[in-house]
Amino acid sequence: MPRATVPVRRLTLAVAALSVPVVVTLVVLVALGEIEAGVAGLAGLVILAGLAVPVRRHLASLAALGTHVDALADQGATATAQPAQPAQAGSTAELSWAIGRLKRSLERKSGELEARVGADEIILDSLPDPLIMLDDGLRIVRANLAARNLLDQNLGGRDLAAVLRNPAVLEAAQAVLAGAAGRTVEFTLPGRIERTLRARIEPLSTRAADGTAAVLALHDLTAAKRSEQMRADFIANASHELRTPLSTLIGYIETLSGTASEDAEARQRFLGIMHDQASRMSGLVDDLLSLSRIELHEHSPPDGRVDLATVLKDVADTLALDARAKGMTIALDLPPAAPAVVGDGEELIQVFQNLVDNAIKYGRPNSTVTAKVTRTERGPGPLSKPSTEGVVVVAISDQGAGIAREHLPRLTERFYRVDAARSRELGGTGLGLAIVKHILNHHRGALTIESQAGKGSTFTVYLAATPPAGRGGA
Ligand SMILES: Nc1ncnc2c1ncn2[C@@H]1O[C@H](COP(=O)(O)OP(=O)(O)OP(=O)(O)O)[C@@H](O)[C@H]1O
Ligand SMILES: [Mg+2]
Repeated sequence: MPRATVPVRRLTLAVAALSVPVVVTLVVLVALGEIEAGVAGLAGLVILAGLAVPVRRHLASLAALGTHVDALADQGATATAQPAQPAQAGSTAELSWAIGRLKRSLERKSGELEARVGADEIILDSLPDPLIMLDDGLRIVRANLAARNLLDQNLGGRDLAAVLRNPAVLEAAQAVLAGAAGRTVEFTLPGRIERTLRARIEPLSTRAADGTAAVLALHDLTAAKRSEQMRADFIANASHELRTPLSTLIGYIETLSGTASEDAEARQRFLGIMHDQASRMSGLVDDLLSLSRIELHEHSPPDGRVDLATVLKDVADTLALDARAKGMTIALDLPPAAPAVVGDGEELIQVFQNLVDNAIKYGRPNSTVTAKVTRTERGPGPLSKPSTEGVVVVAISDQGAGIAREHLPRLTERFYRVDAARSRELGGTGLGLAIVKHILNHHRGALTIESQAGKGSTFTVYLAATPPAGRGGA
């Protein structure tokens, strides 16, 4: 570093200030006649010259220290303090070292602080629930990632009322900021998918340095509400499905014990109807039990080896009579090498029985129901990763009236029927496809449904293939 220059004016002033006592003493001595004015003048000049050298060095050293401090202040946070300048000496050099140390310590502390703020930010952003920090004017100080994803990416500095237009939440937040205790509000957030949320507004005991006075935490209740609603719907549907045949049975029992008691022909006919209704109820209870049994062990997939050709032939034989009653045929299109899948034989029989039964029930009379088996590398959903064994695909196609597109996503819901009256008339309860879906979930398989109005529908089942025999297959 170059030696710092000292302005002449500053040097002159400093030397002048330091020489005042000497000058005064010399003047007094001259006035008292102790020394001659010439001697005093000479002595004064010698003293001034003698003072100028150390004063200049000292001022230069101070100037260098000033430059050094300025340089430290201008350096970025990551720069380290420079050592003291060579131009400095003695106490100023020590001062310079001390300033350097102070700067390094401040930099370390501000680094630690930044890291802590960064960590807080990461933790807040990793929370699954939206969190909003509010100042006492209902302005958003900051918001975590979940809140930004839910409401808007730019929330900082905005008014809460502008992003969450819910009077109940705003009123509660206002009350909390005015000194009330924490409050909880349940509300719905309109949007493409309406959401039910619970907002908890909690005041901070002391206002945070960033101005946060209260925290607004949101919790999404949509899924919980939906499952609550589904449970209620399920109970209502199951009760309704059971009540219908039960009312019929009660009606016939009353008729049989009253007016029809003596009519042998009517008794026979009514007993037949009662048998059908009782069978219907029994079928419904069987389906419900089957569904709950599958759901119970849905998390542990089966690991048996099932020969699909045997399963499909078995199903075709069982339903051949029903098909013949409508003049229909069941055609099996199987590859030469018998495909085997990983699964539970009984459950897979249930899957294909439901699908072929639907194809017969909803298919056109005198048409053909086809079960075609092929292989592919991967399938939808859980089978989307390629595997060495591959995937077996079974497509059950009918030539029926088809299903309108809007019904397709809901077909596997319990009790969902496109035409409830027709399905009931055909002896259906709307549980068949729900059972199929749960069995395929249990197998980590998949189901896709394609349908063309007036042409028919294809229900395609995807299952993981087993390794060919001799390659360690089960
Ligand atoms: N192959 C198909 N063609 C046309 N519609 C179908 C077909 N398969 C199913 N559906 C429609 O989907 C609905 C649900 O089918 P699902 O098998 O779950 O019930 P279901 O056949 O009515 O009664 P269950 O199978 O419980 O006896 C049916 O009511 C019907 O409206
Ligand atoms: Mg069915």
